[in-house]
Amino acid sequence: MQIVILDTPEAVANYGADQFVARLQKKPQAVLGLATGSTPIALYRELIRRYQAGDVSFAQARSFNLDEYLGLDGDHPQSYRHFMNAELFSQIDIDLAHTQVPDGAADDPLAACEAYETAIKNAGLIDLQLLGIGRNGHIGFNEPSSSLASRTRVKTLTPDTVEANKRFFKPDEFQPNLAITMGIGTIMEARHILLLATGESKAEAIREAVEGPVAARCPASILQMHPRATLVLDRAAARGLKDVDFYEYIERENQRLLGG
Ligand code: GLP
Repeated sequence: MQIVILDTPEAVANYGADQFVARLQKKPQAVLGLATGSTPIALYRELIRRYQAGDVSFAQARSFNLDEYLGLDGDHPQSYRHFMNAELFSQIDIDLAHTQVPDGAADDPLAACEAYETAIKNAGLIDLQLLGIGRNGHIGFNEPSSSLASRTRVKTLTPDTVEANKRFFKPDEFQPNLAITMGIGTIMEARHILLLATGESKAEAIREAVEGPVAARCPASILQMHPRATLVLDRAAARGLKDVDFYEYIERENQRLLGG
């Protein structure tokens, strides 16, 4: 794992944007794996800014989102499809027909999960997968105890996750406790995984993911098994890590080798 520790959440967003821009410059038709939650918002704003500046185009790109609430259709303001359209897709030149989010309103969710897996395979797998992390270590909606080999499927959310995401819903609004999520096995097939974490509420999950054992109780710990996983953290999210000096030393060496 590459552990990048930066001073501020803005620096984390910029680093993430650099990765997306570099990937798209090398491969304009890249398949992007996208995420929701509050963490990626700053990254999406930075990508929009760079698109407006003419630094990057998404015209040939395709995208797959990690997850969607089961029971919300794409028009629902709290659906992840709605979030993606509002926070990113409507503000860049990506072809909306080339963006996919699991269908939370599917009549047959299990068939929709299988179709999602097939669509990712048919697109040639994901080149760059963005991840956030839940405070319990979840990635996508793969909650603790999820099979580390799981595929896209319906998952029950933990009460802690429902509580953490309550802030997006109005007090009396229906909040699903089920979701369709890419599986951990699906995520692990991405060629490059980029996990962003900011703020102290993520420090414990990051500690377990980076320095704990690979274990289903912390789904993000599986990234230890990925040949190319980059974790980009601000100081607050990195606070629980024991070996910060070593990770920073490696990064300095990496920069030196790259001539940076
Ligand atoms: C949700 C999403 C995850 C996201 C996590 C953290 O549960 N399904 O993909 O990483 O929340 O969200 P936030 O970035 O808002 O802390």
